[in-house]
Amino acid sequence: MVANVPTVAPGKYTVYLGPVINPTTSTHFDILPNCLVVVDPKGNIERLIENLPHGSELQNVLGQIGVPDGRYSLVVLEHGEFLMPGLIDTHIHACQLPNLGLGGDHELLDWLEKYTYPTERRFSEIDYAARIYPEIVERIINSGTTTSCYYGTLHLEATKLLADIVRSKGQRAFVGKCNMDRNCPSYYIEPSAHVSLETTKLLVAHIQNLPQSSAGEPLVHPVITPRFAISCTEQLLTDLKKYVETNPHIAIQTHISENQQEVKKTLELFPDCTSYAGVYDKYKLLRSNTILAHGVYLTDEEMKLIAQRGAGVSHCPASNFYLGSGMARVRKLLDHGVKVGLGTDVSGGNSPSVLYAIQMASNTSKMVAILPNEGGKKFDVAMLLYLATLGGAEVCCLQDRIGSFKEGKAFDALLVNVRDDSGNPAVWGYNPNRDLAEGDCLKKEVLKEWLERFFFCGDDRNIRQVIVQGSVIGGQGRQG
Ligand code: GUN
Ligand code: FE
Repeated sequence: MVANVPTVAPGKYTVYLGPVINPTTSTHFDILPNCLVVVDPKGNIERLIENLPHGSELQNVLGQIGVPDGRYSLVVLEHGEFLMPGLIDTHIHACQLPNLGLGGDHELLDWLEKYTYPTERRFSEIDYAARIYPEIVERIINSGTTTSCYYGTLHLEATKLLADIVRSKGQRAFVGKCNMDRNCPSYYIEPSAHVSLETTKLLVAHIQNLPQSSAGEPLVHPVITPRFAISCTEQLLTDLKKYVETNPHIAIQTHISENQQEVKKTLELFPDCTSYAGVYDKYKLLRSNTILAHGVYLTDEEMKLIAQRGAGVSHCPASNFYLGSGMARVRKLLDHGVKVGLGTDVSGGNSPSVLYAIQMASNTSKMVAILPNEGGKKFDVAMLLYLATLGGAEVCCLQDRIGSFKEGKAFDALLVNVRDDSGNPAVWGYNPNRDLAEGDCLKKEVLKEWLERFFFCGDDRNIRQVIVQGSVIGGQGRQG
């Protein structure tokens, strides 16, 4: 039973008045200092008026666009605040938050043995999961993540609980249970391919029965989660192949080509396959709703194959640095036509915040750009914004619902505060004693600077509201 599902007040519209940042492509975003956003009672964007003339009579404007008098609540942003689409984390292990910041002196395969599997095994105790998953999900939401692609552990009950908690807190998400029946320690492995598949089916059914959103669609989606090729027997992959072929609409997530030793071991385990991507392709796991984490060592041929299949890559730069995995060629992926979003990959990544992934994606692009023969262009703010929002939405196949503000899309947003009173000393933002006075016009260049400061110096303290499907589900200014 899911209690406490946040809903929009019945019949109530919410009208936001203030500056808006809105991504359009990987090279452009709209900077809109004075916008009106009308969110309907279902939590969808009904109207987006991009350049409201200064001094417009709000009542008249709302009357003209048919928002009934007295049936809306008005949110007027203060100076130093703006709206932007919510951040999308296309790859995070909810069960690994207890490990944040530990084990960074190990590489992937060692780190899994020494740190990760011992941490994950604890979720066999449902009381432990019930105690810590609510706090984990809350922290992630307050970091500004409106959509998360979650890996749970291999445990069915704990992962069902994770899905329930995510739903009750109102976050948009994908939730999967790891499939892993080989090359794992005896204390943390599934007993057979059969059990792995059957428990997966039970999780899928459980998630598909969760309450829908106020818009009448699922908010939490199931995702098939073969952990990585190394941890799956050919029998398990064969069983999963049959299952995914009969369920084309269920998303798939896995890891690919993250670490050199991992790539080597994978190719040894699957001698009939010529590449890592080829292994997943053999079992029909590469398709438009597949999310592939990392992709650091993908060859041009693999990138072509992934693009052909329409699968997306979750770029996890914080993790790629923290575990010393390497630097993904993101520009090359995009040039090949591969969809790319950002992932925190907690706890391979040492922060649950997509803001940190943005900073590390920027650093990665700068380092790749100066390598011989790479010649990549480093990422600008438009690209970083795109990867963290619309790019992520494309990777999740949710680009028609989220990732940018557009009439008819869901209102998944952050109300960002770069005022000095946010309490974050790293953000030299808006101070009423120093900067604009009430009533002064906000210049586009200043609003762009606010976004840039938020990306590179911001944290949870700068997020006043986290909004999913029109409902405030977190943030510093959340009431109640
Ligand atoms: N590959 C297989 N499992 C994992 C994991 O938990 N984290 C990361 N970063 N890579 C993996
Ligand atoms: Fe991962």
